[in-house]
Amino acid sequence: KGSVRVAILGLGTVGGGVYKTIQNNRETIRKRTGYEVEVTAILVRDLEKERLLDIDLALLTQNPEDVLNGELDVLIEVMGGLEPANTVISQALRSGRHVITANKELMAKHGAELLAIAEEHGAHLLFEASVAGGIPVIRMLQGYLTANRVKGISGILNGTCNYILTEMARTGREYAEILEDAKALGYAEADPTSDVEGYDAAYKLAILTNLAYDAKIDLRQIEREGITALQAADLELADRHGYAIKLIGSARESQGGLQLSVRPRLLPKSHPLANINDVFNAVTIQADVVGELTFSGRGAGEFPTASAVIEDLTALLTGESAIRRPVWKRIVNEGVYEPNTQP
Ligand code: NAP
Ligand code: HSE
Repeated sequence: KGSVRVAILGLGTVGGGVYKTIQNNRETIRKRTGYEVEVTAILVRDLEKERLLDIDLALLTQNPEDVLNGELDVLIEVMGGLEPANTVISQALRSGRHVITANKELMAKHGAELLAIAEEHGAHLLFEASVAGGIPVIRMLQGYLTANRVKGISGILNGTCNYILTEMARTGREYAEILEDAKALGYAEADPTSDVEGYDAAYKLAILTNLAYDAKIDLRQIEREGITALQAADLELADRHGYAIKLIGSARESQGGLQLSVRPRLLPKSHPLANINDVFNAVTIQADVVGELTFSGRGAGEFPTASAVIEDLTALLTGESAIRRPVWKRIVNEGVYEPNTQP
């Protein structure tokens, strides 16, 4: 069918994984989609930085205009932060380019506006990698659970915290020390406060809830507590009594609307989420027709996240994204949030 020209914003943990996957799986992608993927530009902050991957340095630029004005069909944003990501994505969508992002903070805070821009300009904005790494939970909510009404969502949504809690329970080491390992493994955010204080999980919970309820969650609606107050002794005590401590994000329907929280919880070891360890995430969706569905897999790291990004790319190339229903449209159109409204 030809080639698709892709620019990547960011060449860190995720950007590196995306670039390598495009190179390593080029033939598979071509066979499945009919397209040759051509990387035309990569935006970085520091051109002098040593890059531990085999790459044509001529592709690198520090100037977003080079990316937007260059040969571009699909923009992949994996640099993180609100700016310049928001501006560059908006400009790309306004010029009809499709965008794929792994940026949960951006989607949780500005997803509704960006999706509206995409729709207005006939472009797609895909964000599978923004929640739960390699687990295809966005696709599940957007493209599959369309006749079901979601009744609740709960899950382990931060790989860094789950890795830290697992290691604290296993080794008796304290969180700050294990956080250094999580950073080295590429799991943590550039500012890991976002992980350990529960913001990252709250962004992901907001994205999932927005999709499931066609709503727009104000992040202030989410009760949030991180894992920094926990000590290895707490996990050891819990373990002795047959419990695990996990950072759980949860959206539950109640009389007053949705109850949203991210906080450490004591789970009996017989609970399915109690046995999700290391960097794994798990998401349980309760829906009225199908009942309970649980998905688990690696929630962070170079290749699980790259997998989600590249699956979004192949969904674009095969036209699968065209069947995805518009999301969060209700709030843009009506400005209201009614948890019991049928999509
Ligand atoms: P990272 O390793 O810190 O890499 C960030 C990359 O973006 C770097 O290459 C950096 O350039 C570039 N960059 C950052 N700010 C920039 C700016 N203002 N202008 C130009 N380039 C800029 O981050 P990451 O872990 O790959 O995460 C990237 C995004 O993916 C974030 O939104 C994160 O939340 C999301 N995510 C990460 C994971 C994960 O497991 N790490 C999983 C899912 C989603 P330099 O290389 O020159 O410094
Ligand atoms: N820092 C995030 C985590 C990356 O640890 O879950 C994946 O979104």
